[in-house]
Formats: sequence, structure tokens, C-alpha cells
Amino acid sequence: MQITWLGHSCVLLSGSKKVLIDPFIDGGSVAWTKPDFVAVTHGHADHMGEAVSIKRPTVAITEIAKYLKAQGVPSESMNIGGTIELRGVTFTMTPAVHSGRIEQTGQGYGGGTAAGFVIRMDGVSVYHAGDTALFSDMKLIGELYHPDVAMLPIGGRFTMGPNEAMMAANFIGAKLIIPIHYNTWDRIMQDPVAFKQAIERTTDLKVQVLKPGESFEIEPV
Ligand code: NI
Ligand code: MN
Repeated sequence: MQITWLGHSCVLLSGSKKVLIDPFIDGGSVAWTKPDFVAVTHGHADHMGEAVSIKRPTVAITEIAKYLKAQGVPSESMNIGGTIELRGVTFTMTPAVHSGRIEQTGQGYGGGTAAGFVIRMDGVSVYHAGDTALFSDMKLIGELYHPDVAMLPIGGRFTMGPNEAMMAANFIGAKLIIPIHYNTWDRIMQDPVAFKQAIERTTDLKVQVLKPGESFEIEPV
């Protein structure tokens, strides 16, 4: 599986299928990725992004799925704790501690609550935490789903900062951590290299710091 961080919270998983998580980048479009599936963690504009205009089969919490369906987007509704399989790709919706109202033309549509995903494809398991505070049940996500990779927000202010994300990484136990949701705007500026050094100094986990648009390959273990 190839993992590409497109910036902010937007990640493209490319393998036997293409899965685009949180289709938003600041000042650009991710429509060119032509994903088989889109996964939306919550209703905030910096996560819903182009979900409506891309119009690909979209996995989201029931409330957002209903909103998307009303906009003509084929959507797959699910909820926290549940798992669905779509053409060989498995989506498990995990809790997130965050708010979740739909910020687009969301009149009449609540966004349910914010969530994260564990996505399994081609023998690789990836956890995308969405926007969240640190919570100790991240240990359960590690125990239950054994993610190979964990993508964790480190921007602070609206989500965990680096300090909390370090503890999250230890709770989850994925061998590889990718920091996301930072340096998009002034209010979420962080130093990802300091985060990497702090984790790698104190644990045997690895942190992959990517530039927006950068990819790497991960093989099934
Ligand atoms: Ni948010
Ligand atoms: Mn956000």
C-alpha cells in the first residue's frame, strides 16, 4: 500500500483500491485522486472538503451519510464501533473526542459526532484518528485492530498537540506514526521533527514526517 499525505488531514491510500480520507486541502483540490472510496471523519469543513463535489462512494457516520445522500453523493452510513467491507476494503469507525457539526450548507443536518477510522486493505491496517483529543481507549484500538500505521493530529488547539500525540502513539502501538493536522494555518503551527525526535528517543516507534504530496510504501507484515 502506498500512503500519501496530501496535507492537513487528507490522506490517500493506494493499493488494490484508492481510499481518500478527509478530502480537503487548503487552497487546492484533491479531485484528481479519483478515489474508489472517500472516508469522512466528521462534518467540519476542513475534513468534509470536496466530499460533495467529488461524488464518490463515501463512508461516514449516519448523519453525514444522510446529508451527502441528499446532495447526490453515494454514501455508506455506519457508526462508531461498527465495521463494513466494501470491495475488499474494511472500514472500522473509531471514537474521537471532538465536535462534529456539518459546516457546509448543513441546515437541518447535524453531523453526528466526530470519528476516526481503521482501514484495512491488502493486508495493511491504517488508523486515521481524525480530529481528536487524547483518550485512553486508544489502547483498545491498538489491542483490537493492530494498526501498522497511525496518523495522529499534532496541531494542538483544536486537537491533540505533540505532547498528547506522543502518549497516543504509545497507547496505539503502531510501529509507524504519521503526524497530520498541523502547519496548515497559523493557529496549528508545530515542529514535526521535534515530535519525531521526542518519540524516537523514548520508544522503538518510528515517525514518518511527510511533506504535503509526499508518499511512502508500506508492506504487509
Ligand atoms: Ni474538526
Ligand atoms: Mn480539523
